[in-house]
Amino acid sequence: MSWRITMMAIASAVACTTATFALAADGVRSLAHTAGIHFGTAVNVEALGDAPYSRLLAREFDLVTPENAMKFSVIQPERGRFDFTQADALVAFAEAHAMQVNGHVLVWDQQLPDWLTQGHFSSDELKAILREHIQTVVARYRGRVASWDVAAEAVGEDGKPRETFWSRGIGPDYLALAFRWAHESDPQARLRYNDYGGEGAGAKSDGIYTLVADLRTHRVPIDAVGLQMHVSLNDAPRAEDVRINMKRLAALGLQTDITEMDVMLSMPASRAALRKQAVLYGAMLQACLAVPQCRSFSTWGATDRYSWIPEFFPGQDAALLFDADGRAKPAYYSVRRLLQHAGRGKAGRP
Ligand code: XIL
Repeated sequence: MSWRITMMAIASAVACTTATFALAADGVRSLAHTAGIHFGTAVNVEALGDAPYSRLLAREFDLVTPENAMKFSVIQPERGRFDFTQADALVAFAEAHAMQVNGHVLVWDQQLPDWLTQGHFSSDELKAILREHIQTVVARYRGRVASWDVAAEAVGEDGKPRETFWSRGIGPDYLALAFRWAHESDPQARLRYNDYGGEGAGAKSDGIYTLVADLRTHRVPIDAVGLQMHVSLNDAPRAEDVRINMKRLAALGLQTDITEMDVMLSMPASRAALRKQAVLYGAMLQACLAVPQCRSFSTWGATDRYSWIPEFFPGQDAALLFDADGRAKPAYYSVRRLLQHAGRGKAGRP
């Protein structure tokens, strides 16, 4: 399908699914709302023309993160030429379905355009490039994108600051600068640091804690920490450690979110594995529900049809709440049951 046709299909999906929005009350999103959290997913913008997919999104989720559409290489493919086609489509879809948008991602070491990584820029030039990028993107969606993943994956497995394209080019203060520029461009937006592998206990979790504590000490405008939660049945953190980690971040004045959960399974997935997966999703959701400052729970994709897992982890798949045909899996029912019984919701939620 050509890009033009895809965009037309997206426009009609936005229109059609608006008409069926009344059905949305049947999905998990309304249960999550009652429980006091947002329920989100990453969205593949190029697939929005797939009507069953976009209907499922509208029914189940009230928070969307563009899976790729707001990454640097997509938004600024050539220096100074910004392309908001996909990002605009995502934001329009979200608004048509009363969903919040989480912008993803402003400062990351991956999916950077060649003109940037292969150019030879001085520190001042790189600062100017990053500043222009952040200001242009955040200002465009001021008031329409509720939160931003300002920076991601800046801490190594050993807990020390990771050497990245940005740290090499600008120096260690690139993170503080990025948060400040984002805040200036939309003072209302909730600004987040997002990382993987530091959800529970351990060196990386401690490193992330130290990093964000330092940002807070220096009055950098950071509001939240995103815990990605890309896990398998063997390497998931203990839910109790996740809760404890959220609590210590809350003590710094930071909110938390589970931002990208998926649980990859070895294929073909057995019924026993799907049951264990359901338990794990439930345990992580429960950790979030137990901490008032945990505001949202998102999966990295809605259905296994569009999951990134099989491409990046050969032999693994079936990581999400819905199968490739949009049928709910045991994990979905586990999440649903928990939200149904989550009670009156969280104190203090706006
Ligand atoms: C992944 C996307 O899902 C893929 O389509 C893309 O090819 C690579 O990036 N952590 C993140 C996401 O924060 O941006 C990544 O998304 C998955 C890991």
